[in-house]
Amino acid sequence: MNLCLFAVYISPLPFPGHRPLDTSSSALGQESQDLYARISASLSERGYCLLPSWLPAGLIDALFIHFTSLDEQDFKEAAIGRESNQLVNPFIRGDRIHWLDRTHPVTRDYLDWMENLRLELNKRLFLGLFDYECQYAWYPPGAFYKKHLDAFQGNTNRILSTVLYLNPDWQPQDGGELLLYPPAGDDPIETVSPQYGRMAIFLSNEFPHEVAKTNKARRSIAGWFRVNNSLGTVDPPR
Ligand code: OGA
Ligand code: MN
Repeated sequence: MNLCLFAVYISPLPFPGHRPLDTSSSALGQESQDLYARISASLSERGYCLLPSWLPAGLIDALFIHFTSLDEQDFKEAAIGRESNQLVNPFIRGDRIHWLDRTHPVTRDYLDWMENLRLELNKRLFLGLFDYECQYAWYPPGAFYKKHLDAFQGNTNRILSTVLYLNPDWQPQDGGELLLYPPAGDDPIETVSPQYGRMAIFLSNEFPHEVAKTNKARRSIAGWFRVNNSLGTVDPPR
């Protein structure tokens, strides 16, 4: 019997190409180790990293299918600020969001991949990343997100921002680019078209960025690796 075919046949397949994920470090092949080393090098040298596509194609497709299967009511208008300071302001951002959790097999799989990335980055960069929060972000045609930093004022627990793009066949005239600015300066250092499967990773507190007006519905998963500074511990004096 062809073992490979057999394995495909018996594995539970919540979506095409899905395999149960083994995220233990020993299960990572040389290729993945090289990839994590490259991401880490790019983050420590430049503070950001643009990846054409590093997640399995089956996972990207399943996320896209899940995202597009949600109803408009599953999304809420994105706010700026946090907790009691939240404010919806369509002149600053016009996307609608849906927070991800582990209740759906596809989003759980994505969170497992990001958890693995968290552990690998901590090993190499000693960032002390503690957890990851993420949301589907849906920009209707005409929406944008003005230049901003992801770390909230007075709250520095967002360390690394990630954005995964889920837009098949995105064309230049569709707009919606991510513009990444240097820590100081008015000219973008990167203009990223939100192509299917592409991911941007950057230091949340260092790189102002914006989403240019999109001419087509634009989908992404925006996420943040955070450190835990909510335990009432006081920063040591300098
Ligand atoms: C954000 C954000 C960028 C993008 O959600 O904070 O800046 O390209 N997203 O979607
Ligand atoms: Mn942002």
